[in-house]
Amino acid sequence: MTHSAHARRAPENDSPPTIDHQHAPILEGIIAYQQQDIVPFSTPGHKLGAGADAELFATFGERAFQSDIPLGGGVGDTHFSGDALGQAQALAADAWGADRSFFLLNGSSAGNHAFLMAAVRPGDKVIVSRDLHKSLLVALILTGATPVYLAPRLHPELNVGLGVTADEVAQTLDEHPDARLVMLVSPSYCGVASDLAGIAAVAHARNVPVHVDEAWGPHFHFHPALPPSAMSSGIDGAVASTHKVLGSLTQAAILNVQGTLVPPDRVRTTVGMAQTTSPSVLILASIDAARRQMALHGHELLDRAIALADDARRRLQAFPGIAVLDAAQLGVAAFDLTKLVIDVDGLGITGYEAEHALRNRFRVGPEMSDLVGVVCLVTIGDSEASLDRLVDAFTALAEEHYKGEIGRRGSRSSGAVVAPSVLAMTPRDAFFAPSRAIPLEEAVGEISSELVIPYPPGIPVLAPGETVTADKVAYLREGAAHGMYLSGPTDTKLRTIRIVAA
Ligand SMILES: Cc1ncc(COP(=O)(O)O)c(C=O)c1O
Repeated sequence: MTHSAHARRAPENDSPPTIDHQHAPILEGIIAYQQQDIVPFSTPGHKLGAGADAELFATFGERAFQSDIPLGGGVGDTHFSGDALGQAQALAADAWGADRSFFLLNGSSAGNHAFLMAAVRPGDKVIVSRDLHKSLLVALILTGATPVYLAPRLHPELNVGLGVTADEVAQTLDEHPDARLVMLVSPSYCGVASDLAGIAAVAHARNVPVHVDEAWGPHFHFHPALPPSAMSSGIDGAVASTHKVLGSLTQAAILNVQGTLVPPDRVRTTVGMAQTTSPSVLILASIDAARRQMALHGHELLDRAIALADDARRRLQAFPGIAVLDAAQLGVAAFDLTKLVIDVDGLGITGYEAEHALRNRFRVGPEMSDLVGVVCLVTIGDSEASLDRLVDAFTALAEEHYKGEIGRRGSRSSGAVVAPSVLAMTPRDAFFAPSRAIPLEEAVGEISSELVIPYPPGIPVLAPGETVTADKVAYLREGAAHGMYLSGPTDTKLRTIRIVAA
């Protein structure tokens, strides 16, 4: 523990909040500190930049270093009440419609770990949609909970995950009346949101809380054309990555909670356990400021982002060989209109090849690619000019590659990924069990002791404790051959995989 981070830190969220969204208490604390001309004898060791490498200093700029000050003994003490973080979190809770909000420094990942540690005990059953993100799987390993995996529905032709329904959750809860938590990812990487209000209702009718990984939906709460947010749907706990699609710095995220099915003070304790003891005020201030921006101007900023994305979607759809996902095509009501999921399969190239060309020839950087397409995010930071660059690049690709109708060759990643296989052990027991490495092809029928996760999107194909199937092996081999990046396995080239030793 660093001394400076904790020495004089006031309790968070304890003082009665003053709700005035014009304020950004952490940012104001940084400005006040800068005006005081304090000579620091505390962390960080760069001492307002004087001790930093010259090139680093020149690249980041003086103001960044002068803003990188401690929370306790820095921002927290110079701000008028000494509890800048508590005030900022209270403002965030108001903005996102939560009872309490917790700022996260290690992304939504930290919030997923924290919420599960607050909500369940080792051995508890958790009903979880199998398209879970790596961080939720890690939370299962950390807590020792037993997952009951639900298979998310798939669009029959497009192979895009459509989430889980309230009826499926209700039925699974009836089959497992001892379940302690329901958790799911919504929206999905492709932007499809589940019926959160319906899921909250069936779970709450059985006194079971629901946790939603809303990493990709921090903007939902601020625009009615976007899917309903987790908090407005009555969900108990939800993480949202303000760094992914709002204006915060990388790693910035928020955990919102409401109700008492999971005690909020317990969540506060576990958030403290899951996070660094030396919080970066750069990250904290960027959450604070993103909240101010959204609370004051979210609607108009998102209006513009949605219109830009709609226009680009329409222009891209016009090219033969290119398809862009939309709600009508998927047959879903709740879809994130700012996501451009662009299918290039009809051009006869893979998404990986398209991404390579976009980056290296057209200097356009997509969010991710898979076998059939690329995903591009449109945010409040975009403009007509940035979307013209994107559309122009795809125009060039289409002109170069389209050779008339070609049948579908590839498959979006979700098919093999989201299928739950037999759960032979809990993720924790399998992860910590004695294991041995064997060639991937020989692993069918064995119990995986490791996580095998194509990134992005970060959905585990293999989770510890699951039996390895031929489908998954085939999917991983094809992906590895196309340069898919794998997080989790000891052998990153996946020639071998570690299985639970008999
Ligand atoms: C569904 C989902 N949940 C959680 C995360 C983790 O978010 P973060 O990177 O903010 O920790 C991601 C990141 O890609 C994600 O896609």
